[in-house]
Amino acid sequence: MFHAADIGTGIAQGAYMSRLLTHNRDSSASPEEMIHRLLAASHAERFSPSLGITDFEAGLEQECSLRRIERVFVEAERAAVAPLVERVPTDAPGFVQWFESLKLTGPGQNDALFPWLAQHASHEQMCWFLQQELAGEAGFEDLVALTQVKLPAQAKLELARNYWDEMGQGKESGMHGPMLAALADALHLNTSGHTVWQSLALGNLMVALATARHYAYQSVGALGVIELTAPGRSELVNAGLKRLGIGGAARRYYALHATLDVRHSQAWNREALFPLIEANPEVAPLIAEGALLRLRAGERCFDRYRYELWSRDQSNAGA
Ligand SMILES: [Fe+2]
Ligand SMILES: [Fe+2]
Repeated sequence: MFHAADIGTGIAQGAYMSRLLTHNRDSSASPEEMIHRLLAASHAERFSPSLGITDFEAGLEQECSLRRIERVFVEAERAAVAPLVERVPTDAPGFVQWFESLKLTGPGQNDALFPWLAQHASHEQMCWFLQQELAGEAGFEDLVALTQVKLPAQAKLELARNYWDEMGQGKESGMHGPMLAALADALHLNTSGHTVWQSLALGNLMVALATARHYAYQSVGALGVIELTAPGRSELVNAGLKRLGIGGAARRYYALHATLDVRHSQAWNREALFPLIEANPEVAPLIAEGALLRLRAGERCFDRYRYELWSRDQSNAGA
């Protein structure tokens, strides 16, 4: 968690951000909430192809301010996981074994939220959960594409294969992103509804790691740990959707990721993590750090989701 003083330092470095924060100040919002809403809102403009720029200098000033704020956030998160990174093996076989153990012992694993979604959540509660998840979704395929730039051949090829799967191997009907959009359509999810800041922070973290080359190895770790840990959660979300009578076409995204990501994870660890660390053991702590940052961000979401969902449904108090 970052401190107000750190954010103040970041803000003071950017006149644009200072103006923006003053303009958007909401007395009930925490510093985390303000920052993550600003960063998340900026990504739509940052990544969308545009027809040009009306004021390059103002845009540059805005970009500098946002990147400083983003750095304050990421560096605070890195400091929080530093003690966990210290004991990570730096030999390739030992590292991959440690990395795979995160599936069982990593932050946020085996969270009670997911069996509850599978067995007990109402239609309305499931929709609220999915709305949060979609809001924090930064687009896995774009994150992979950004991360693979200038990586060594073997790792680059694995990221390319993963990207191609994300892209439905060239067929629009098999693209993963639109599958999620189809679920949102089928359930009439209110994607412009209120999103908790923890969901936005998850997306902001992934974007920050994938877009800064000095966090490239953290991004490789963060993406790899998604592949490692997504199948178990996807299976339970799919089971919940099925229980609620949602058809196979609508829940295809979760049904697919319950199995496909098992193979993606094995390939990522063998073809990307192993050779990168074998070639340079110094990247091991950085990859580990990325994985832990992503798991911690996910854990923060699950805590908030449980709080919101279970405090609203007293029948689950103490569940
Ligand atoms: Fe996918
Ligand atoms: Fe995958």
